[in-house]
Amino acid sequence: MNDNYRTFFALSKEPFGTDIRVAEILKTPELMDIKNRFDYVTRLGAIGIVTGEVGSGKSTALRYALEKLHPSEYRTLYITASSGSIMEFYRQFVYALDIHLSSNSKVIMVRMIKKEITDLICDKKKKIVLIVDEASVMRLEVFAELHTICQFEKDSKPWLPIILAGQNNLIDKLMYRSS
Ligand SMILES: Nc1ncnc2c1ncn2[C@@H]1O[C@H](COP(=O)(O)OP(=O)(O)O)[C@@H](O)[C@H]1O
Ligand SMILES: [Mg+2]
Repeated sequence: MNDNYRTFFALSKEPFGTDIRVAEILKTPELMDIKNRFDYVTRLGAIGIVTGEVGSGKSTALRYALEKLHPSEYRTLYITASSGSIMEFYRQFVYALDIHLSSNSKVIMVRMIKKEITDLICDKKKKIVLIVDEASVMRLEVFAELHTICQFEKDSKPWLPIILAGQNNLIDKLMYRSS
């Protein structure tokens, strides 16, 4: 595409780039809605979902909300989901937490993830938030296991808020009931 359209619209750079700086993000009502709900989910230690068509601004809104969290207070974990198995999900989670692990055992991975989260919360006095972007591509079996990593001290501690973002079929996947 030639550059004439930029002159026509008086644009100083290409619109819709993925490298848009946080300061340049337009604070649309939709973006502020996501930010408010993001903050609510984070405060509550709940699970929240953000759905919308491709290009509707989900990842940008989440980037904006994440940027507003203070790094000395929050440890933010960002995973771009894959269509792989639950093991793949745990591997990504282990990597996001900077855990160096040679074992491929699910039990060990879950234990290490929980230990690291407990250390961050109890010893380092951090709050945590996990973003799973493109979550609509995840397999049903992965959704079914998510609760195992959210449960701390017999499910009495809301230590791991999770935001799942994806296309509209994410809701269908979450509503799916196996008979
Ligand atoms: N609030 C916004 N202000 C400015 N540009 C935006 C905004 N939201 C989205 N964009 C632009 O649109 C592109 C697509 O948005 P993105 O957040 O990647 O959509 P999604 O994650 O829903 O597919 C971004 O790369 C960015 O350039
Ligand atoms: Mg996106």
